[in-house]
Amino acid sequence: MASPPLVSIDDLTVQFRGDRKWTTAVEGVSFDVGEGDCLGIVGESGSGKSVTALSMLRLHARGTSRFASGTVRYDGQDLLQAPESRLRQVRGGDIAMVFQDPMSSLNPVLTICDQISETLRLHQGMSRADARVRAIELLDLVRIADARRRVDEYPHRLSGGMRQRVMIAIAIACRPRLLIADEPTTALDVTIQAQILELLRELRSELGMAVMLISHDLGVIAEFAERVIVMYAGRIVEQAPVEVLFRTPVHPYTEGLMASIPALDGGDGRLYSIPGRIPDPDEPIAGCRFGPRCAHVQAVCRAAIPDLASIGPDHRVRCTPRTSGRTAA
Ligand SMILES: Nc1ncnc2c1ncn2[C@@H]1O[C@H](COP(=O)(O)OP(=O)(O)OP(=O)(O)O)[C@@H](O)[C@H]1O
Ligand SMILES: [Mg+2]
Repeated sequence: MASPPLVSIDDLTVQFRGDRKWTTAVEGVSFDVGEGDCLGIVGESGSGKSVTALSMLRLHARGTSRFASGTVRYDGQDLLQAPESRLRQVRGGDIAMVFQDPMSSLNPVLTICDQISETLRLHQGMSRADARVRAIELLDLVRIADARRRVDEYPHRLSGGMRQRVMIAIAIACRPRLLIADEPTTALDVTIQAQILELLRELRSELGMAVMLISHDLGVIAEFAERVIVMYAGRIVEQAPVEVLFRTPVHPYTEGLMASIPALDGGDGRLYSIPGRIPDPDEPIAGCRFGPRCAHVQAVCRAAIPDLASIGPDHRVRCTPRTSGRTAA
């Protein structure tokens, strides 16, 4: 029998308080992350990737956000209902996160050593001396040269790529079972971006942790992930193993994202972008939320939001015209 997933998200719906009412940013999102998985989440800006990730650790501000439905099961417990004390253990301990902008996550007045030690002392009760030794080991692990010297430096002395390596060192300090990396390379130039992705890949196999990589760039996801979730306007629109998604994308939105990847051979130099823009969460749209931008839209698309239909092993698609008649049993 297959082992149970590490984290299981079911029917997650997240709302934010607007001027007069609650608006729905993420709706009915369900997926599993298995032990050691390499999962990619892709979608344009505003599609609900970060809201989904932050929900898994209940990191949204209280009062202005709520879970209208859903569970996030980890270790036999629903994290959305768990006491705050349990969440504090899980965050940075079992499940860690790395964000886009390392400078705003690092404290400018603390040395690298202080910042890595903080996590180790908090979660593992390490002494100051032991935490320093471990901090140097961690800098080695994230391939920062001359770790012994670097450990006493302040963040402003480091390049963008090195800062992101420090953030990754902090994230993996307590040997998480899942690392969530939300646009970890977006602020970096292409060469450094490739190096950071390579590092994440190596750490994943060295440490045996699962990685959930979030990016608006399907090219980045294609390089990294084994399974891909495509999000649009707060919902999953397609989900498949990476090779299946690239060989046979089914949702017109996935096709559009794919056409937006710059050709490796340079192509004709022109970059395709999907016409139109992602709708605001409370924008009224009849039926499929991608309908107004879709080149294949039909009357049935305006009637109702399509279900996420299973059309093959681990391949699910939310597009009525393209899934009706081919739904897997
Ligand atoms: N704290 C918040 N309050 C109100 N609305 C929010 C909040 N956080 C996110 N949203 C809304 O939720 C939707 C999804 O946002 P989210 O940040 O998850 O997008 P994203 O896919 O991560 O995009 P990006 O690629 O820009 O990071 C957006 O419409 C956004 O405006
Ligand atoms: Mg985001």
